[in-house]
Amino acid sequence: MGSRVLVTGGAGFIGSHTCLVLLEAGYDLLILDNFANSSPEALTRVAAVANVALGSQRLQIQRGDIRDPITLDGLFSAAAANGRPFDAVIHFAGLKAVSESIKKPLLYWDINVAGSRTLLAAMDAHACRTLVFSSSATVYGYPVTVPIPESAPIQPNNPYGFSKAAVEQMLTDLNSSAPNTWRIASLRYFNPVGAHPSGRIGEDPMGIPNNLFPFVTQVAVGRRDQLRVFGSDWPTHDGTGVRDYIHVMDLAEGHKAALTTLLNQGPQHLTCNLGSGDGVSVLDVVNAFSAASGQDIPYALVDRRPGDAAVTVADPSHAADILQWRTKRTLGDICRDGWAWQQANPMGYRQSA
Ligand code: NAD
Ligand code: UFG
Repeated sequence: MGSRVLVTGGAGFIGSHTCLVLLEAGYDLLILDNFANSSPEALTRVAAVANVALGSQRLQIQRGDIRDPITLDGLFSAAAANGRPFDAVIHFAGLKAVSESIKKPLLYWDINVAGSRTLLAAMDAHACRTLVFSSSATVYGYPVTVPIPESAPIQPNNPYGFSKAAVEQMLTDLNSSAPNTWRIASLRYFNPVGAHPSGRIGEDPMGIPNNLFPFVTQVAVGRRDQLRVFGSDWPTHDGTGVRDYIHVMDLAEGHKAALTTLLNQGPQHLTCNLGSGDGVSVLDVVNAFSAASGQDIPYALVDRRPGDAAVTVADPSHAADILQWRTKRTLGDICRDGWAWQQANPMGYRQSA
């Protein structure tokens, strides 16, 4: 029997791809998700691609909220009673839209921070003390050095970023309170994009996408007329913003590496950037996506978006050293796989492939 992992938010974009990678590696999963920003169809497809039965010991689903201590206590108690306690938790559940967090800060503190606290209390009460946490490069705010090492100052510039920094601090405090007890990985993702190469699993944002990559794929498939490029006067090679785009399958494999590291090594709190180390501009993405899809991507150059940084690129060397993990996939792979997903599912999970 494989190790058993509780995955919060496992139906979401990064969670669904990570669940697939973990199932293929032999882990048994229970996914807790309230489907606030995802569809159960994602998990039906994960099960199909992994060739496991939904609802079997390999892959179970519980609809519920991480803020509900009764739900959490029930899950941990039932797992122990059935002789299959959780060996670890991967905690994806949360909200992630910067602009929404500025309008609804209390919601972000509630779900991202209080929800994480409730989860940690349940883990502690049930002696499950191995956790992989979804942090974000957003904790660096406007970076002072690029590429950004993990030692860079934590200086978020929006409520979403503060919520991630607050959970990281909570984990640091928890680890200090009980030395040699917890196994924790705080993973700071850069810009996750792309899709599973099958075209069956991908990113399905609700409403108009905030992020560049899903917006580009929706322009290519004809759901949006044109891309607005936010700023063409940034101090970058072509004037447009530069980011570190990471294929979601590389990111999923990064979670597997972090989980393996925690389970195989002793208690620790490790903090890693998960990024490629490569800086790619908005126009680089547009051109690469055009080449991969054969579609024209009409765009207009417009004003900068408030709150954006010119360049955000990871220093990925720490992750390479301690997780023995680095990205393998190229921008061309990202565009090919993102296009396969968007073409097969023009309306996302609402319309079956
Ligand atoms: P997502 O919205 O696709 O997935 C989040 C999942 O959590 C969804 O399935 C949603 O329904 C679920 N969820 C939300 N609130 C919940 C609650 N109260 N209880 C139970 N389930 C709940 O987002 P994603 O892109 O997969 O991101 C996963 C994690 O990674 C998030 O914590 C996010 O902040 C973090 N992150 C994402 C990015 C990114 O650009 N996608 C970058 C850095 C960090
Ligand atoms: N961009 C456009 N047009 C769009 C959308 C984005 O030109 O329609 C540009 C942005 O200005 C930026 C780049 O594309 O230069 C990437 O923007 P995204 O919104 O895709 O990603 P961000 O880097 O702004 O944000 C991501 C995550 C956030 C996280 C942040 C910092 O989505 O959750 O990284 O790590 F907070």
